[in-house]
Amino acid sequence: IPPPPLYYSPFPSGQQYPMEPKNESWSFPKDFWWGVAGAAYQIEGAAKSEGRGPSVWDVFTHRVTDFVVNNYTADISNNNYYMYKEDIARIAAMGVKAYSLTLSWSRIMPFGRGPVNQEAIAHYNDVINTCIEYDIIPIVTLFHWDLPLVLQDTYGGWLSEQIVADFVAYAKVAFAAYGDRVTYWFTVNEAIVFCNEYPYPAGYFKNFTIPNQQQPFHCGQSVLLAHSQAYRLGKEMMPNATIAYKNNGGYKIPLTNSTGDAVAVQRAWDFNEGWFSDPIYLTGDYNENVKAYVSTFLRPFTEGEKQTILGSADLYAHDAYTAQFYFAPDVGVAACVNNASNSLFPTCANTSYTYSAQDGGWAIGAYSDPLASWLHKTTDWLPAFLHYLADTWAGGRPIAVSEFGFAEPFEAQKTVLQDILYDPIRTSYYHDYMRAMLIAMSEGVNVVGCLAWSLYDNFEWSSGFAVKFGMQYVNFSDPALPRYYKASFFEYKNVFDIYQEK
Ligand code: NOJ
Repeated sequence: IPPPPLYYSPFPSGQQYPMEPKNESWSFPKDFWWGVAGAAYQIEGAAKSEGRGPSVWDVFTHRVTDFVVNNYTADISNNNYYMYKEDIARIAAMGVKAYSLTLSWSRIMPFGRGPVNQEAIAHYNDVINTCIEYDIIPIVTLFHWDLPLVLQDTYGGWLSEQIVADFVAYAKVAFAAYGDRVTYWFTVNEAIVFCNEYPYPAGYFKNFTIPNQQQPFHCGQSVLLAHSQAYRLGKEMMPNATIAYKNNGGYKIPLTNSTGDAVAVQRAWDFNEGWFSDPIYLTGDYNENVKAYVSTFLRPFTEGEKQTILGSADLYAHDAYTAQFYFAPDVGVAACVNNASNSLFPTCANTSYTYSAQDGGWAIGAYSDPLASWLHKTTDWLPAFLHYLADTWAGGRPIAVSEFGFAEPFEAQKTVLQDILYDPIRTSYYHDYMRAMLIAMSEGVNVVGCLAWSLYDNFEWSSGFAVKFGMQYVNFSDPALPRYYKASFFEYKNVFDIYQEK
């Protein structure tokens, strides 16, 4: 392993983001794991190398015209499959304590089930060992959306409960291979997002005749069964492991204190976070809102399944990027936007959806929104959000912010290196975000770790390389794909240098 590169500050004369005086009542405990995250399909490249089988995302990038901005593919992407040693050395140089990586199911089992590709097993062994050599905790996610294509083609992937056995068999291979060194596992990443992508673009997969509006819930049902069974198996094989489902969604704020808005907010929780967290953490079954919606087309869980699902997590893991307003249908979007100066966030989402509409509030939709400056107000909502997660679902379990991050508007249009590396909005987002975490922690919320998305710019799904979340810039026009730290990464490190107990 080469020695870590030296720090490089993009600021003139190496100064760092201005920090207000240290607040002596805040601290991150010594064993708090702060780190960075990436995901296999988004960063690995090497799409056809070392026995990798195709995934649904190879179809989306290669066969579905205009599904991805500019028809970008991730065939090469960050080339992390070959550059992981450098990548890990670079994050180690920043002092991060954890690296959240994902395994590619279609590398490990190119046919989704059956034969195991030993080259892939050896590859991730080396990735994990490299982390450990640098004293970085590897945190491993089993499924981050790149479903082996053959499983989609054969039975509709997550639309079918047949996937449950296949997922558990894959999990078993991963636990057996890495469980002696990996203690933190996430089973499934953000099912709210990928399940809502069912139905996939028409015509590319066999039509499994499930009406569009029902497909996300078939997917979600398989996820709950697959997650919970993999959790139980994982705990048998690795009693000391910490295993969780990785949920996501923004903090939901009622626009006014009207009853209508309160109902709207509750419905939003129920159909998003609660869709997965209520079964896993509270009851073993769906909440009443979801149940009422799905009862005509989903079979109910059996008592045994409910018992398997209930409590199938050792940690409450949430990808918590942002917040949105919710309001009753009689309050228009215009009213919300006009109110922005009194609000925490400019982005509004109403509740007129029945089940599937994305909450529209991915305030990172501030990609091109001048009101992105509202994002600086993380401190206004994040402590409340963390309290909400702790009080509603965590049930005494520790909480991890398993992803957070920011796509700086117009970053992809910058051309001068020094400008690209100076990312003041992302920098202040991280700065405020961590202050907000410190506030919540000083109030007693047990946050044990956080993982910034992302260690570097990468393939942002249907936005391709047009949207950047990286704390490092990657020059994708240079075949050597050089990486450079951005200011935000220094700021991220800075906060921990100041606030983490030594
Ligand atoms: C969450 C997803 O897990 C990740 O894959 C994605 O790139 C980030 N959000 C940013 O959109």
